[in-house]
Amino acid sequence: MDSIHIYGGNLLRGETRIQGSKNAVLPILAATLLIKGSCVIKNCPRIADVYHMQNLLQGLGCPVSWAGNTITVNTAQANDNRMSGESVTRMRSSVMLLGAMLGRMGEAVMSYPGGCVIGKRPIDIHLTALRKMGVEIVEEDQMFTAHAPRLQGAEVKLPFPSVGATENVILAAVLAEGTTILENAAKEPEIVALCEFLTEAGADMEGIGSGRLVIRGVEGLHEVKYTVPADRIVAGTYMAAAMAAGGSIFLEQAPADQLGAVLEAAEKMGCCVTINKEGIGIDVLRRLKALPYLKTEVYDGFPTDLQSPMMVVMALAEGQGILEENIFENRFRVVGDLGKMGADIEIVKNKAYIKGVETLTGTVVEAEELRGGAALAVAGMAAVGRTVIKNRHFIERGYENICRDLRELGADISIG
Ligand code: EPZ
Repeated sequence: MDSIHIYGGNLLRGETRIQGSKNAVLPILAATLLIKGSCVIKNCPRIADVYHMQNLLQGLGCPVSWAGNTITVNTAQANDNRMSGESVTRMRSSVMLLGAMLGRMGEAVMSYPGGCVIGKRPIDIHLTALRKMGVEIVEEDQMFTAHAPRLQGAEVKLPFPSVGATENVILAAVLAEGTTILENAAKEPEIVALCEFLTEAGADMEGIGSGRLVIRGVEGLHEVKYTVPADRIVAGTYMAAAMAAGGSIFLEQAPADQLGAVLEAAEKMGCCVTINKEGIGIDVLRRLKALPYLKTEVYDGFPTDLQSPMMVVMALAEGQGILEENIFENRFRVVGDLGKMGADIEIVKNKAYIKGVETLTGTVVEAEELRGGAALAVAGMAAVGRTVIKNRHFIERGYENICRDLRELGADISIG
């Protein structure tokens, strides 16, 4: 069965190691297309989205091999510039191959990645930026052809610091003719990881981690060995599990320097947080106090990917709180299932009005997307009785083995 079974209501105790970052490794895998040769990427999470990116690269003529959590991609013989509609629509982050294919082959034929349950997720910002770099884009029905015999460096100012659009501009700029100045770039840690990877391969860029990137095109890039940083969203999800269920856990490798907004919220609610070079410890010895107001923002604000797990924490805290979603237009899908478990949450436009309850009760619920599914696992850890989460495959898109990890933290959890 494609489900997870949890017997909740127990305090969490234990430690687990945080996996490599999904949202860092996906653009890095796309970036290997810019390097004619073999790249070795360590600490790569074995998750569905990575396997899908692997299939896309193999479809472009790039052999891929695994050894544990090390993936090797050889793009020397990359020979295609077409990606089938289904493969692109199945995973939105395939759109990152657009910039890489333009940089490598000068052409890309792909379908619009399409939306998902959390939002329409257009790529207008990507396409406008790439047009400024000399890319001609011919749209036909659901497909489009992007063509650029030689990408030109340009001054690009994004209307919104889109993570994906920033990544696509970076991928198109590193081998372009001339210099690209990217203003209002996204500053998420995953962008920094991509820039570090490309710099190690010989790219020439300044302003890494800032909202203004200067990228000087170079003639070519060379092979790289790179280690993927830990996944801040997975770490934040497991912090939410302890905050909801109570207990005392330690998250090895958790990147505290990337979780400032989350750690601040946790301490405000009454958690005792310990940070050292090994990771993050969190002790939750009594019921948390509600956060009156929390909103999602671009980095380094509170991350939208932790909004649903945090909603569970707030649903169990003492008092009332408002959780505002500002990045995606439909990211409250999990509220219905949390209500079935006893949560008291009312949605008005982009705000969730949450009245904390003392307990949630286990029942059968259904994951509809990645982070909402993870939030149901967080709720199941705290809920009294058995929770069955259907559609486990949504969670497996981003969590290498959520059952193994949460079991190491003391949960009674198994796949069904
Ligand atoms: C990345 O998605 C992440 N995915 C998302 O994580 C994350 O939630 C998001 O960044 C924000 O941090 C990966 O890195 C693979 P955006 P992305 O472009 O690049 C709108 C997860 O759970 N927009 O910053 O798609 C868009 O509709 C996933 O791991 C446009 O309107 O995010 C959205 O409302 C979910 N036009 C907002 O901007 C565009 O051309 C943020 O999108 C592009 C984006």
